[in-house]
Amino acid sequence: MTLLLDEVAVATSRLAEAGVESPRADAELIAAHVHGVARGSLHSVPDTAFNPRYWDDVARRAAREPLQHITGRAYFRYLDLEVGPGVFVPRPETEVMTGWAIEALQAMDTAEPVVADLGTGSGAIALAIAQEVPGARVHAVEADPLARQWADRNIASCATAAPHTSGRVLLYDGDFTTALADLNGSVDLVISNPPYVPDGAWVPPEVGEYDPATALWGGADGLDAIRAVERAATRLLRRRGLAAVEHGAPQGAAVYWVFAEEKGWRDTRNHSDLAGRDRFVSAAWAGGGR
Ligand SMILES: C[S@@+](CC[C@H](N)C(=O)[O-])C[C@H]1O[C@@H](n2cnc3c(N)ncnc32)[C@H](O)[C@@H]1O
Repeated sequence: MTLLLDEVAVATSRLAEAGVESPRADAELIAAHVHGVARGSLHSVPDTAFNPRYWDDVARRAAREPLQHITGRAYFRYLDLEVGPGVFVPRPETEVMTGWAIEALQAMDTAEPVVADLGTGSGAIALAIAQEVPGARVHAVEADPLARQWADRNIASCATAAPHTSGRVLLYDGDFTTALADLNGSVDLVISNPPYVPDGAWVPPEVGEYDPATALWGGADGLDAIRAVERAATRLLRRRGLAAVEHGAPQGAAVYWVFAEEKGWRDTRNHSDLAGRDRFVSAAWAGGGR
């Protein structure tokens, strides 16, 4: 055992005692971040190179600061994004919905689909689509100025790392209930991971104390922003355009009915995340229902 691996073992117990969900992984990822090596190369760090700053970062994580705020990075599909105070940390369940959208866009009979990402936060969904659907043009709307700064930064660094995304993610300051009016009736796919936590519901400290309130709370039943996304989608989508909206695991049935046939929706479907829980709804817009 090396000194660093010994320290990682102690840190793992400390994080477990603090209630961190994945203590071993987090202890290793913080060690990798502090020592500038891949997680799989921790054993190669010589004892003389051990950096005591490791314990400062472990203490932050034990105080339930999100791992991604400590490392400053979040990985989302093929992207390496910058995140920190003021922006929602992208989640794995959103990767699944984004993957569904990417496949749907690739199957469309247009090589240059128009996409709207409502509430873009760090820009995760919009950038993943631009990266993986090379003809797509993604209009990303965000109301929160702090979050928009992170999105701006990620759009710029993605344009350097993946030049084919350059100029294809357009960031807008605004409320998605009224934004993008010049695109009304012309969007091929509307996607959103809106705030959907019911007001007052319990959330872990990493979420409640670090994700912005505007990214979390969705009214008494958590569906206020989801209903607003549905209304915006009916305005923005072309006929047979697609909508995909993330929701909380217990909200699948309720969100299914938000995209009801009598409003003009067709093919409404519930989709599950990697753990098999209902996580997003997709639907096709038949048009003219309102
Ligand atoms: C749950 S976060 C999702 C961020 C990002 N799409 C992701 O999946 O990581 C929701 C985002 O929507 C933004 N938002 C909430 N209501 C909005 C509104 N009415 N108009 C524009 N943005 C809004 C919040 O500021 C927040 O950044």
